[in-house]
Amino acid sequence: MSESAAPAAASSAAPRVTVIGTGYLGATHAICMAILGFDVVGVDVAQDKIDRLNAGEVPFFEPGLPELLVKALESGRLRFTRDYAEAGAFGDVHFLCVGTPQKPGSHAADLQYVEAAVTALAPHLKRRALIAGKSTVPVGTAARLTALLHELAPAGDEIELAWNPEFLREGFAVEDTLRPDRLVFGVASDWAEQQLRTVFEPVIEQGTPVVVTDLNTAELVKVAANSFLATKISYINAMAEVCEATGADVHQLADALSYDTRIGGRFLRPGLGFGGGCLPKDIRAFAHRAEELGVGQAVAFLHEVDAINRRRRARTVDLVRELAGGSLEGARIAALGAAFKPDSDDIRDAPALDVARMLQEGGANVRVYDPEAMSNARRAYPDLEYAASTFDAARDADVVVLLTEWTEFRKVDPAALADVVAQRKVVDGRHALDPVAYRAAGWEYRALGRP
Ligand code: UDX
Repeated sequence: MSESAAPAAASSAAPRVTVIGTGYLGATHAICMAILGFDVVGVDVAQDKIDRLNAGEVPFFEPGLPELLVKALESGRLRFTRDYAEAGAFGDVHFLCVGTPQKPGSHAADLQYVEAAVTALAPHLKRRALIAGKSTVPVGTAARLTALLHELAPAGDEIELAWNPEFLREGFAVEDTLRPDRLVFGVASDWAEQQLRTVFEPVIEQGTPVVVTDLNTAELVKVAANSFLATKISYINAMAEVCEATGADVHQLADALSYDTRIGGRFLRPGLGFGGGCLPKDIRAFAHRAEELGVGQAVAFLHEVDAINRRRRARTVDLVRELAGGSLEGARIAALGAAFKPDSDDIRDAPALDVARMLQEGGANVRVYDPEAMSNARRAYPDLEYAASTFDAARDADVVVLLTEWTEFRKVDPAALADVVAQRKVVDGRHALDPVAYRAAGWEYRALGRP
């Protein structure tokens, strides 16, 4: 984003922005909005997060974000608070960025944080304002929240709700926020659309397409996009299963498919499958919501997408067991990776840790190493053993298994790694290593769907 965006947005008519919820999505959004020139207040219920952000420290790993946080704080346009009264008095546009995890014991989305945020903010909304929801929610939620806002806010009907889904990928959060592929404005009035056009003016000016829809459509765009992406990944992983049965090579298959411009190569990388805080829970919540609406059959295939994805984890464990000589009992396994994908410290529904846990349950001694996700992993899985480096994890290992494709792991010299292990056996769970180089260094190299 060029510096020239700032003065235009910072004019006296510029709406003042609040961002409710300062997790991966909200913190990034708040920081980027301040960088674009708006006055921003970030709100969270967690005092430690607020303190760290105000001190210039991003509480999670996201490339490029720490530098922007410092810059935004120095501009004087950004601060973080726990005080909803302050946020209500300050903001003209309030972005709702709280989490919507999977409900325990159900496939439905847990809306308690969304409801709590709206309930906490509404009594402080005393003049006309726009609430713009960004959280991923079941279709119909915005309509319900509108009624709640009108009931609880002193400004009543003057409070409008819009839905503005976010498509940011962790690891590329800044890029996806400042230069998104598209903006989606789900609105119920021209005024709401105009408010959103004003707060996104610096982004729209770059030529970013804007799709204006009603509230229901905007809510659906997000889950439809994530379902498509999940389906594409599970599709290629289903092909991998067929390849495994025939001795064909899914890597070459994906490569050949990717040149068809109708298909494209993105999200067609076979391997351990998808995890994270979005794709797995979003497809489940979507299927659950569709069932509630009586159209469960329309997206019944998402259950299969989920099942294929979960099978990848079990199949990876099987492959490690095979390489360990048929039993995991007492096998020493080096697990490279814990985060759900590289360039993130997020371990939510991480395939890597799921595999590590299953290997351990099977009797193996598992040593995990990840460049950024160690403290999150330790907290969630205290019973796993953790190593200080790739080579520390690999020392005396019977099998090395690559679970998250960090550049650091891709760059390891197979000959040097060979010197520290007990047996040169590697399972490439992410199709990220060079089989030729590994085999040349004496390794038995295996990957699902590759001969
Ligand atoms: C995703 C969507 O991309 C984003 O638009 C949405 O807003 C939130 O969910 P994110 O969860 O950050 O973003 O990760 P993403 O990069 O999409 O990867 C999701 C998972 O799919 C990762 O576990 C990744 O390893 C896996 N993946 C991705 C594959 O297994 N194969 C691929 O080809 C691509």
